[in-house]
Amino acid sequence: MQLVQISDLHVGAYNAEILLNAIDEINRLEPDVILVTGDLTENGLLVEFKKAKEYISMLKCSNIIVLAGNHDYRHTGYLLFKRMFYDKQLYELDECIIAKLNTARPDRDEGEVGYRQCLWLANSFKRDYRYKIIAMHHHLIAAPDTGSDRIIVLDAGDVLHTALSSNVNLVICGHKHRPWLWNLGSLIIAYAGTVSSIKMRGFFENSYNIIDIDDTIKIDLKIVNGERMPLEKVVRMREYIEE
Ligand SMILES: [Fe+2]
Ligand SMILES: [Fe+2]
Repeated sequence: MQLVQISDLHVGAYNAEILLNAIDEINRLEPDVILVTGDLTENGLLVEFKKAKEYISMLKCSNIIVLAGNHDYRHTGYLLFKRMFYDKQLYELDECIIAKLNTARPDRDEGEVGYRQCLWLANSFKRDYRYKIIAMHHHLIAAPDTGSDRIIVLDAGDVLHTALSSNVNLVICGHKHRPWLWNLGSLIIAYAGTVSSIKMRGFFENSYNIIDIDDTIKIDLKIVNGERMPLEKVVRMREYIEE
């Protein structure tokens, strides 16, 4: 099974040509699932949401999972997001289960999961699945080059504990536009960069992640219009700049 994670489109302050090229590349991959992990828009405005929806509808995939980011919840964008992208929170595909955690809060940059969502997650993941995956916008643990630990959800300890005790295999996040990878024993935590925002951080290319799930979980970073490489290469080469 192949999952593609795109994140942080930031329609409103973005490179349209790059985004169209990324959509074209992703459609050629024919992934089983596409996860859009938040910050679809720059300011949560109606005009931005309409445009973002147009782009997402260009993706050819029968399983498109869309999450909100802190930017989408600005200017009462949370009302628009719910109206335009409302969908279920749990997805069962083959032997995998994918849970979306909503971390965005109205007009706040900080993210939070909350006691009730943690409880729901633990209950939903009680059954045996081959792979258990969480998708969320804000980070579960901090990443380098981000300047602050405020990028993580306020209740990161509770969420991490829930994930580990539920035998979660993979957590994917967006938010800070910093592709990164942490391996915590059997738990992989992977961050996607920004697919089309002009604001990049520590990795100066627009990119998205390709996750191949078979006997193992293999994560590649794909630079839009450029190289595909193992995500761990980004960790090894911390200041990757394509010449
Ligand atoms: Fe963002
Ligand atoms: Fe964000």
